[in-house]
Amino acid sequence: MNPPDTSTSSEIEPCERLKNRPHNIAENLAADSDWTIDDARELYGIQRWGMGYFGISEQGNATVEAPTINGVKTIDFSEILDGLKQRGLDMPVMLRLENLLDDRITQLNEGFASAIRETNYHGEYRAVFPIKVNQQNHVIAEIARFGERFNHGLEAGSKAELLIALSTLPSNDSLIVCNGYKDEEFIDLGLQARRMGLLVFFVIETPKEVPIILRRAKHWGIEPLIGVRVKLSTQVDGHWSNDAGDRSLFGLSTVQLIEIIDLLREAEMLHCLQMLHFHLGSQIPNIRNIRDGVTEACRFYLDLIKEGAPMGYFDLGGGLAVDYDGSASIDGHSRNYDLDEYCVDIIESIMASLDPHNVAHPTIVSESGRWTVAPMSVLLFDILDVNDFQPLPLPDPLPEGIHSSIDFLIDILRHIKVRRLQENVNDAIYYRDKARRAFQTGQVSLRERALAENICLTILHQVAQQVPEMSRPPESLLSIKDSLSDIYYGNFSVFQSLPDAWAIQQIFPVMPVHRLDEEPTRHAIIGDLTCDCDGQLNQFVGTAANTKTLRLHQLRDDEAYCLGVFLVGAYQETLGDLHNLFGDTNIVSVRVTEAGQLEFVRELKGDSIGDVLSYVEYEPQSIYEQFRARAEKAVREGKITVAQRQEMLQLFSESLRGYTYFEG
Ligand SMILES: Cc1ncc(COP(=O)(O)O)c(C=O)c1O
Repeated sequence: MNPPDTSTSSEIEPCERLKNRPHNIAENLAADSDWTIDDARELYGIQRWGMGYFGISEQGNATVEAPTINGVKTIDFSEILDGLKQRGLDMPVMLRLENLLDDRITQLNEGFASAIRETNYHGEYRAVFPIKVNQQNHVIAEIARFGERFNHGLEAGSKAELLIALSTLPSNDSLIVCNGYKDEEFIDLGLQARRMGLLVFFVIETPKEVPIILRRAKHWGIEPLIGVRVKLSTQVDGHWSNDAGDRSLFGLSTVQLIEIIDLLREAEMLHCLQMLHFHLGSQIPNIRNIRDGVTEACRFYLDLIKEGAPMGYFDLGGGLAVDYDGSASIDGHSRNYDLDEYCVDIIESIMASLDPHNVAHPTIVSESGRWTVAPMSVLLFDILDVNDFQPLPLPDPLPEGIHSSIDFLIDILRHIKVRRLQENVNDAIYYRDKARRAFQTGQVSLRERALAENICLTILHQVAQQVPEMSRPPESLLSIKDSLSDIYYGNFSVFQSLPDAWAIQQIFPVMPVHRLDEEPTRHAIIGDLTCDCDGQLNQFVGTAANTKTLRLHQLRDDEAYCLGVFLVGAYQETLGDLHNLFGDTNIVSVRVTEAGQLEFVRELKGDSIGDVLSYVEYEPQSIYEQFRARAEKAVREGKITVAQRQEMLQLFSESLRGYTYFEG
């Protein structure tokens, strides 16, 4: 540990200047009058991840570019925010944009249809939406409605999801694909639906399901439609690579597959086996993995036909990825292909494998969830507060002789030099920690410790300012900027609304939905309302690579500052939990008409405090009663008056009915 150097008076001069200049690096990004909305587009990468659905208006507001039958209509987020306010819908709000869902369904079905024409494929395409990706009633109802013209079906992984599928799908020609382990009741429901003419496929996950299917089919006298989910050896890149391969949780080994074929043949039911199913994993970033998987699956398809199964359906599961960070790469948050390439590559791979064997082209089924619903939802929340990690102005002159650690810190501050920045940081941290230890033993007072912390912070800010002047700054110095960034506290819960950001470090695009014509001068991470250090967003879509801070605007007094987290329609609502008892947010579905008008189609109030308490087995009424008894006792004891009791009880019952989030 080198002591800070002592210097000549000429070297002290810069320090005097430093004392007078702003300490915060972000503050030094003085608002640039040349800033344009193109700069904002570039900074937030909206053109890279926005899929053409989002833009920025000349007024500096985010926009939705909503496809309608009369072309794309632009809606300003300010209109959406005003509409929410007028309807008394507090932040946070999960905004669903119906036009985008409609467009995605159309694109997926038309993408395959045009690839089928282009490649002269003789089979058809059928989409099924996996209910687990977003089971919300309104979303499934819209998928069924928008998808009716394409016979867009549903995938059900449980009895509850099967009930949704059976009751929601309008067309008997839409597929219902049943995955997951199925008990007798599940099988009975599917068989009865077959009798009604619905195209329900049981995809066998384990040989144990076969005797149940055979027994119940015989009992009811109904022939089932059967699929087999195979385990491919193709490995995929990305986060969900364990969904494929020998150790994947789901899917049949070749040994199990043979067992099933033999069981079906023995029962004279092999003609019911018509679907091959596989799922390589969600969010597959690399198209090569998809091609390889399809090619391997075709070998299974061919041999199942050789075994005597009629087949006819080739279900490749989900995996069609979303380019969350707009990098168009094989990074797990992205993908190196688009929809057209996906469709053509799948079809070509099937044809290349099956045509040499003169096997009829199967109906291609895909279970794209994420790609279908991710863009439709935007989480909107306001910023409540900022912790800006700025040092306070230092006393002038700086006091000396209090404690040696503080003297050293002052000395470091006076002699910060570009060529010694790392040493300056090491020393500053060392003496700050020494001051902290001295506080513990009573040698340094609280006020003195605060001074030491403030000087250290000032040093770090000044070092961060000078790092760009270094020719080859080390990573440890580059990251100082991030460790000094602001924390913007948002009115939302990561665990409830963006669980994947916490659980699997998923990056979602985040950006302010207004003030985009002003340069954002702060560098920040975003903290949520939960008292949990994991409740933060600290990875963002960057211009070149993803970054640890997001540029945001300085808050203005009495003016709301609203951020949007985009592409959150898949999995987030479903996986969200009640950490700190923050419940479901308000949900609003909007539609843009062909005349370009914004319609608020549906509003769903978020959970009340009473609701979330009941989810964790409290009865709001009995809680109220317990509190009432306590208030009554306080009256009896003369601690409060009857009128004060009334006030308390009213507040208590209003709180039970109130929103779980911060109410402005
Ligand atoms: C069997 C099955 N089908 C479809 C999906 C949906 O995948 P994605 O959302 O990537 O389209 C999943 C999700 O992992 C799945 O397990």
